[in-house]
Amino acid sequence: MKNVVVLTGAGISAESGISTFRDTGGLWEQYDIREVATYEGWLKNKELVTDFYNQRRKQLLEVEPNYGHIGLAELEKQFKVFVITQNVDNLHERAGSSFVMHLHGELTKVRSEKYEQLIYELTPDKYEVKIGDVCEKGYQLRPHIVWFGEAVPMIEQAIEITQKADILVVIGTSLNVYPAAALVDFINQGTPVYLIDPNEVSINRKNVHVIKKNASEGVKILTDILLKEYIQ
Ligand code: APR
Repeated sequence: MKNVVVLTGAGISAESGISTFRDTGGLWEQYDIREVATYEGWLKNKELVTDFYNQRRKQLLEVEPNYGHIGLAELEKQFKVFVITQNVDNLHERAGSSFVMHLHGELTKVRSEKYEQLIYELTPDKYEVKIGDVCEKGYQLRPHIVWFGEAVPMIEQAIEITQKADILVVIGTSLNVYPAAALVDFINQGTPVYLIDPNEVSINRKNVHVIKKNASEGVKILTDILLKEYIQ
């Protein structure tokens, strides 16, 4: 089976009703990144940050995976699919993808603000975190999210997987945020890249096939192409 590595961003969840970050009306137009997505913001106002992520968690309970997520899970019948996502939602998992790596953390987890290895899974009946909710050593729980300025612990593993790609698929990311955006530099020369996005995205690679569509339609088109090219 060929290895298909898929790098996804906020755009794949847009049709499920989760807003992207940098499109018009996106999250970073409504909120100040420095206040809700940096460690300094957390130190300044833990309540505000906790509320922001509680809202994101509540929204996650109300949405469903779309065909973008589902189609990628279905591709596993013919390919070995590795999803590397910048998203903190769990829609890839809920759609049935068996390998999902979260580069920027997960909304459904929290961790100790002091001991980063103390990570806890939230359950749908207790998604809300409060100031005063602490780890087993008595320290406040913070979102298990990689904020701006923080290291991306999974990046080495993500690079290793990307290097083994026979096919790279990039869906719904503006490729503005590093190191995630630099993953595309680690594929072998000649490895084909399929880019699904309704808008122009600048990607500095040769052999890029642009599918200028929303994720759900784009994944259908991609599936047809991959089956024709590699399976039939
Ligand atoms: N289908 C596919 N792509 C879409 C759709 C859709 N229905 N709607 C919008 N897009 C595209 C946009 O055109 C854009 O290229 O999704 C991309 C979203 O880009 P960003 O908002 O910048 O999101 P992303 O690239 O995931 O951001 C990276 O930045 O804020 C941080 O940590 C956060 O993980 C996030 C990272």
